[in-house]
Amino acid sequence: KKQEPQKGNSKTDDLNQNTENGRGHAMTTNQGLKINDDTNSLKAGERGATLLEDFILREKITHFDHERIPERIVHARGSGAHGVFKVYDDSLKKYTKAAFLTDPSRETPLFTRFSTVAGFRGSADVPRDVRGFAVKFYTEEGNYDLVGNNMPVFFIQDAIKFPDLIHAVKPEPHNEIPQAASAHNTFWDFVSLSPETMHNIMWLMSDRAIPRSLRMMEGFGIHTFRLINEEGKSHFVKFHWKPLLGTHSVVWDEALKINGQDPDFHRRDLFEAIESGAFPEWELGVQIVPEEDEHNFDFDLLDPTKLIPEEIVPVQKVGKMTLNRNPQNFFAETEQIAFHPGHLVPGIDFTNDPLLQGRLFSYTDTQLSRLGGPNFHEIPINRPITPIHNNQRDGIARMEINTGKTSYHPNSISQGDPRQAKVSEGGFASYQERVDANKVRARSKSFMDFFSQPKLFYNSLSEPEQSHVVEAFCFELGKVDMPEIRQRVVNLLSKVDGALAKKVADGLGLAVKKPEEPINHQFGADANPQDYQPVKV
Ligand code: HEM
Repeated sequence: KKQEPQKGNSKTDDLNQNTENGRGHAMTTNQGLKINDDTNSLKAGERGATLLEDFILREKITHFDHERIPERIVHARGSGAHGVFKVYDDSLKKYTKAAFLTDPSRETPLFTRFSTVAGFRGSADVPRDVRGFAVKFYTEEGNYDLVGNNMPVFFIQDAIKFPDLIHAVKPEPHNEIPQAASAHNTFWDFVSLSPETMHNIMWLMSDRAIPRSLRMMEGFGIHTFRLINEEGKSHFVKFHWKPLLGTHSVVWDEALKINGQDPDFHRRDLFEAIESGAFPEWELGVQIVPEEDEHNFDFDLLDPTKLIPEEIVPVQKVGKMTLNRNPQNFFAETEQIAFHPGHLVPGIDFTNDPLLQGRLFSYTDTQLSRLGGPNFHEIPINRPITPIHNNQRDGIARMEINTGKTSYHPNSISQGDPRQAKVSEGGFASYQERVDANKVRARSKSFMDFFSQPKLFYNSLSEPEQSHVVEAFCFELGKVDMPEIRQRVVNLLSKVDGALAKKVADGLGLAVKKPEEPINHQFGADANPQDYQPVKV
């Protein structure tokens, strides 16, 4: 369906203040000096040597020498686009005071970045991998980021394991092989010793890990978040994105060919669709759970390796995202955008999911080095459409010229001191969850059922989809050259589904054995794994 090109919105107009186009203008240095000769360096005679005083040469080469910034530590390969979000009606008002989720007259500008997780910035678009699905809403109350994936669960339950997971996923450290996300010893070693990964592993071995197009992927916020209404009441929420084009995948053989023939397959598809006016669209879905029902499930809502089955809590579709404008400059927009699950607006808040809690530290921390210091919120793609007023000052590459004679609060001297905002005028107040506990380095026993939901997922697949899973396990484990690792994975699979384990074992020439008991290598040195049998919350 061809649509009219987007005319612009508050965010794209904001970005336009920073655009530049030199066509027809005289070339200048960064100091504005017109350049007469951009092709010959300044030499002592036609045959040189080149003179150190050639500031034009030095400026050009120096800037070039510093063009690269560190790529993201994960999700380095990505493609993005601008768009808008509109909620259908005000029906979420009883759950949240977030205006972009309740005011149907608002059109909220946004930028979405899709990514693979493991590959480098220049890697191919269709490896077997999870896809990132990150949306930055530029709301009138500040930026809200929904930083999700195209699968509804995650590999681990606690952020303290994230560096281990990623070290295992990334190419092996001695030879930087292999670049494929899942096909190697270290990844499967980690999996085989971490049964909590099993649910996400089942999704990873399914067709969901090889999407046909970025336009044809679901998105999930994964964690349970909170919606907070005007009265301060909280409801739990899971966020979903449902593509209007449907969810589609390629088969593995196609993926292998595509990666060789056109490593930019997904990036090109997204760019060309938007360029031609076939704007991709997703509906935002929510699953809402009243606080009173927190303990009424046979899993823990705080456990990011679990989903809420849609048969139990249906997904209500509440609004639509349309991606309708390509970035004008990949580096300035797609590369420099900085998402963070902690970028919140009033009406949305966190839960104590231990994976989410660690993420709240990690994103700003990594961006401080990736984007070179504490002022990356001033980079055009990152700045909110609302004004920023606070007493933070200075730092490398500061753009803002803060006027006034003081930069502290409380303050009786300066008329320019920003005041604190009452909750009634949009000031953010964290949800007052009651917490009363001993400090412990532990995991809840309610997180210990690692196999019921992977089984549910496998049983939900059609026969061809199930056979793709078997083939994927055989292909990926076939690349593992340590037999004991393959064996441990097959043994773990028997806890998910006996027939699946048998088929994979047959494919690899193994027999299924009982998993080691205890199968956990994931508790502290003094923990007794027998204490970690699954219990209901
Ligand atoms: C980047 C999703 C868990 C650390 C990303 C991105 C996505 C994402 C979509 C790419 C954002 C972009 O396009 O720029 C998720 C999801 C998680 C998860 C859905 C689990 C539910 C974690 C955890 C940590 C972490 C547990 C660390 C403790 C990072 C870092 C980046 C990143 C450091 C790079 C950010 C940047 O350089 O801007 N994540 N992630 N993630 N994630 Fe996560």
